[in-house]
Amino acid sequence: VSIGVLGAAFDKGQTRSGASLGPGAVRQTGVLKDLTALGHTVRDLGDLRLQEAVPAEYRAEDGRARMKNATSVGRFNQQLSERVSSALGQHDVVVTLGGDHSIAIGTIHGHGQTVRHDKLAVLWVDAHADINTPLTSDSGNFHGKPLSFLMRGMEAFHLDLPDLRWCKPCLHPSKLVYIGLRAVDPLERVAIQEFGIRAYAMREIDRLGIDKVVEMALDQLGAGVGADSSLHVSFDVDALDPSEAPCTGTPVRGGLSLREGQTVMEEVCKWGTLRSMDVVEVNPQLGTPQQAQYTADAARHLLLATFGRYRGGNAPEGSQLP
Ligand code: ARG
Ligand code: MN
Ligand code: MN
Ligand code: MN
Repeated sequence: VSIGVLGAAFDKGQTRSGASLGPGAVRQTGVLKDLTALGHTVRDLGDLRLQEAVPAEYRAEDGRARMKNATSVGRFNQQLSERVSSALGQHDVVVTLGGDHSIAIGTIHGHGQTVRHDKLAVLWVDAHADINTPLTSDSGNFHGKPLSFLMRGMEAFHLDLPDLRWCKPCLHPSKLVYIGLRAVDPLERVAIQEFGIRAYAMREIDRLGIDKVVEMALDQLGAGVGADSSLHVSFDVDALDPSEAPCTGTPVRGGLSLREGQTVMEEVCKWGTLRSMDVVEVNPQLGTPQQAQYTADAARHLLLATFGRYRGGNAPEGSQLP
């Protein structure tokens, strides 16, 4: 398949610097070359970063609102959305390397522009639910909120943020499934329940096994509309256990093994309806250089699993022993 790889060099969705170096760190693992070796046509679309200096970050008059860098987040994602939707016209699959998770506002919105909204399906692999609003967020960080801006029906719980007005919700609650949750804020849990969002937390993975969980998740994402869903996978590396992906801003113990992450992506690969994917929250500035490389290499393994690398080995087409 033809794969477009875009870097989203953005870290204003939280307060640590370094996540904007994620795309560079993941590219340095050689993953683009490895994907090419699997037989794909890979095109590096370069990095998007916020060009203009933002004069002043928007502040809501509503004193209850918690949000940091709303203007930067809004403007960056507006550009990212356009980049992703135009790249989808040129490639079978568009991979976006983050950046913090606020960039999913742009990637999913961009994908949403290219399909009927009831076809858009999102598999969100993360320790966190990332469905806070400015009125529920404790941290104020937008990387904990992207889904609330994308979810249809959540408009009612939002403030009017001028820099995010362009972002019209495109995702139906029945077309979102979580895998890997283990750090969900109380009001995020309320949102999950009120909107009836399917969520496979680590507890469910322990009970059912990852194989069963992905099978159910993918089945539910395709359900009702046949297999013609247009799939987006948003993979936060903090879904993996910190022993596998230590260099990330908000690590949570008790996560997925790399093997479980690979299983998820191998199944996505088999399903065949993947159109776009994010790999986010790799922060090479945290931890030692070795740990940073190890974390980026976990991202590489996830991407190879996504695009057909089989852990038992791949025989070149029609080849025989010499
Ligand atoms: N729930 C917390 C918050 O709202 C943590 C979010 C972490 N998100 C992430 N993409 N790593 O700030
Ligand atoms: Mn619509
Ligand atoms: Mn997370
Ligand atoms: Mn996340």
